[in-house]
Amino acid sequence: MQTQPILVTGGAGFIGSNFILQWLASEGTPVVNLDKLTYAGNLGNLEKVSGDPRYSFVHGDISDRKLIGGLLARSRPRAIVHFAAESHVDRSIHGPDDFVRTNVNGTFALIEEARAYWTELPQEEKAGFRFLHISTDEVYGSLGPKDAAFSEATPYSPNSPYSATKAASDHLVRAYHHTYGMPVLTTNCSNNYGPYQFPEKLIPLTILNAMNGKPIPVYGDGKNVRDWLYVADHCEAIALVLARGTPGETYNVGGWNEKPNLEIVHAVCDIVDEMAPRAGGSRRELITFVKDRPGHDRRYAMDAQKIERELGWRPKETFETGIRKTVRWYLENEVWVRDVTSGSYRQWISTHYSV
Ligand code: NAD
Ligand code: DAU
Repeated sequence: MQTQPILVTGGAGFIGSNFILQWLASEGTPVVNLDKLTYAGNLGNLEKVSGDPRYSFVHGDISDRKLIGGLLARSRPRAIVHFAAESHVDRSIHGPDDFVRTNVNGTFALIEEARAYWTELPQEEKAGFRFLHISTDEVYGSLGPKDAAFSEATPYSPNSPYSATKAASDHLVRAYHHTYGMPVLTTNCSNNYGPYQFPEKLIPLTILNAMNGKPIPVYGDGKNVRDWLYVADHCEAIALVLARGTPGETYNVGGWNEKPNLEIVHAVCDIVDEMAPRAGGSRRELITFVKDRPGHDRRYAMDAQKIERELGWRPKETFETGIRKTVRWYLENEVWVRDVTSGSYRQWISTHYSV
């Protein structure tokens, strides 16, 4: 059974690619990566495993039911780990269509095809099969300064088109367990940071702008709070939930590390100053307060006691260790950064697929 692959969707994105690299290094069983290669998908993230016989890549859309049905029949995965999504809140505000298409309709198409596949599996394989849906803390809405952290029992209250589409997909996945008995699992995670994150998100954007002497945009008053988790810790939590989580359950994954945005930006500027000193003064001088994000959630905080109690997971990195590793990674991976910022990583798609 363990030689059957897992199917990962969205594995060319930030968390998906970290997950595949970690999975092949630790678990070692085969992985099929299905990815549409949107602007956020970059096969350069997976260069280290591109020749690994345990790894294969399929270019495609989770909304394409024919493709999904054929892929499941051919590859016969023992699990699906579903990362594929439109993930950036600001993009969802400017254009929600793709978010509904992929996060809602795409998840529906994927889980419908997964259900058809799972229903026909022999009894033993059917019992062992898992559909693990990767979601976010943003579905719970926004906290006041003194509110208790989100638990798995917190009612959903999504505020952005992004979080609304993620909430919709969480509900669909939940219903497939309740109605059809499908062995689904959901993880809701806080803000990730680390290698291979596309520089539209706060931390990589700040690192690169600090390096390049460009203004560092801070929305509103910079006091919005997020709970930051190093991506490798998130990937470990996912592997653990996949192996030992109880079907039908949801698990909150968080870093126990709430910080206001301005503190994050200050920390990054100071580490860049230390690792790549420049003559012109501190990078903090580049910080520029800009117009706030519409509907900007004030505070997220995760109560991740359930996953610790039931599965023994706790993050290994502190923010101080994780952020230093992250800044160093961006400084040492100039080629990746150049390809991503110039857009040349996208040429792979036109060369291979003429789309
Ligand atoms: P990302 O934007 O970096 O990557 C998304 C990947 O999905 C890309 O490779 C993209 O090409 C692929 N994709 C998009 N639409 C697709 C489609 N229709 N079919 C197939 N592939 C498609 O995202 P990420 O930051 O790695 O997030 C991964 C998942 O984790 C998402 O579901 C997101 O909601 C969730 N999440 C992210 C964070 C975070 O901090 N980044 C935190 C909690 C949860
Ligand atoms: O909480 C989990 C979520 O974290 C994931 O579900 C999303 O996929 C992921 O994108 C992330 O969402 P955020 O909106 O929290 O991340 P982002 O990096 O875009 O912003 C983090 C905070 O920093 C947020 O309060 C907005 C602020 N910000 C962001 C950018 C890009 C700025 O102040 N300036 C910026 O330039």
